Amino acid sequence: MGKPKIDALSGLVVVTGASSGIGLELARRAAEDGVSLLLVADRDLSEGEAAARTAGARDVETLLCDLATDEGVQHVMDAIADRPVAALFANAGQGLGEAFLDQDWQAARKVIDTNIVGTTHLIHEVGRAMRARNEGRILVTGSIAGHMPGAFQLVYNSTKAFLNNFCIGLASELKETSVVVTCLEPGPTDTEFFERANLMDTRVGKSEKADPVKVARDGYSAMLAGDDDIVSGFMNKVQAVFGDILPNDLVAQMHRKLAVPKRR
Ligand SMILES: NC(=O)c1ccc[n+]([C@@H]2O[C@H](COP(=O)([O-])OP(=O)(O)OC[C@H]3O[C@@H](n4cnc5c(N)ncnc54)[C@H](OP(=O)(O)O)[C@@H]3O)[C@@H](O)[C@H]2O)c1
Repeated sequence: MGKPKIDALSGLVVVTGASSGIGLELARRAAEDGVSLLLVADRDLSEGEAAARTAGARDVETLLCDLATDEGVQHVMDAIADRPVAALFANAGQGLGEAFLDQDWQAARKVIDTNIVGTTHLIHEVGRAMRARNEGRILVTGSIAGHMPGAFQLVYNSTKAFLNNFCIGLASELKETSVVVTCLEPGPTDTEFFERANLMDTRVGKSEKADPVKVARDGYSAMLAGDDDIVSGFMNKVQAVFGDILPNDLVAQMHRKLAVPKRR
C-alpha cells in the first residue's frame, strides 16, 4: 500500500528531546500546523514550550523524564493516556566522544539505553496503538553516523546504525497499513550535541554544521510525504552513500580522523 501523503498534521504530536536542537525545531514546525504538543525531555523545556506556543500550537504540555529508563517511557504513556497520537517524533538522543575503552561504562550505557532501548520501547507502545487505528506517523532521528563504523564515537554511531536499520525494517513490516515510519538522517548539525558529547576538541566538533531548522523541516516534509527515510543535505547524502560502499576499515579510519580528540 502506498503511504498517504498529507499536507499538515492535526491532533496530538509527541516530541522527545524537545528541549533543544533538532527536537525543538521539530516541535516548532509541528506547532505551525496548529497541533497539540506533548514535549518530552530530561531538562528544562521552557524554550521548546515558548517556541511552540509562539509558532501557533493549539496547546502545549511538557513532561520531564529520563527516556533511558522504562519508568520514563511509562511516564510518557501515562501522559498520552487514551488519546490517539497523530505523530511521534522519537528524537531524544545523545552522543559520547573518546575511545570506547576509555569511556565510563555507565555513560556509554546511557547512550545505548536512551538511543536504542528507550526509543524502541516508546515506538513499541505508540506504534501498537497506531497500527490498531491504522493511522499515525513516526519520525525517528537516526543519523548518517549510522553508515560509518564510528571510531572515537563508537557506541553512538552503533546506536544510530541500529536505528537507521530498525526504521526501514519497521516501515516494511507496516507496509500493508497506513502507518508511516520515516527515518531522518542528519549529518553534523549545529546543536548542543557536540558540547554535551565532549566532542568540541575534535575536527567534527569544530566543523561547519547544518542549521537544525533546515534539518527538522527536511524530516517533517519527508514524514508528511510518507517517505521511509531522508538524509538531510547534499554532502551528507554523498557521505552516507560512500559510508555504505567503501571498505568498512577505511570508513572507520576516516571517522577516526574526524572524532579523535586533538590532544591525542
Ligand atoms: N547534532 C548533530 O550533529 C546530529 C546529527 C545526527 C543526528 N542527531 C540526533 O538528533 C537528535 C537530537 O539531537 P540534537 O543534535 O538536537 O542535540 P541536543 O540539542 O543535545 O538535543 C538532544 C535532546 O535529546 C534529549 N535527551 C537526551 N537524552 C535524553 C534522555 N535520556 N531522556 C530524555 N531526553 C533526552 C535532550 O534533552 P535533555 O538533555 O533536556 O533531557 C535534548 O532535548 C539526537 O537523537 C541525535 O543523536 C544529531
